[in-house]
Amino acid sequence: MGAPAVPVSIKQLIRMNFANTIILCGGFDKESAEAVIESGLADLTAFGRPFINNPDLVERMANNWELSKDLHMDLFYTADANGYTDYPVHKVSSIVL
Ligand SMILES: Cc1cc2nc3c(=O)[nH]c(=O)nc-3n(C[C@H](O)[C@H](O)[C@H](O)COP(=O)(O)O)c2cc1C
Repeated sequence: MGAPAVPVSIKQLIRMNFANTIILCGGFDKESAEAVIESGLADLTAFGRPFINNPDLVERMANNWELSKDLHMDLFYTADANGYTDYPVHKVSSIVL
């Protein structure tokens, strides 16, 4: 969200000196989240913006469904549900055999 990237060396330093659970967030998708956990730098990852325009984010990731990229950041910090809770869930097209 415009913040400078945290250098990997800083994350490694934290990992070496902090014995408890580390949760990283910021710009992750499923692949990069899995990769950073695999690397050992994080125990968990969190998602912010992808959850807004993908209210079924967990199901989408679990099923490898496409994530919506249609996010209206101009509606952040506004006062009603518009742009927060009005995004659709993924539509699974039915296959007739
Ligand atoms: C609408 C919105 C408001 C946020 N407000 C703050 C905030 O006030 N302070 C803060 O430190 N982070 C804030 N964040 C950042 C989140 O806490 C989180 O670090 C970030 O969304 C994670 O990255 P991601 O959205 O790429 O998954 C906000 C994020 C969103 C989407």
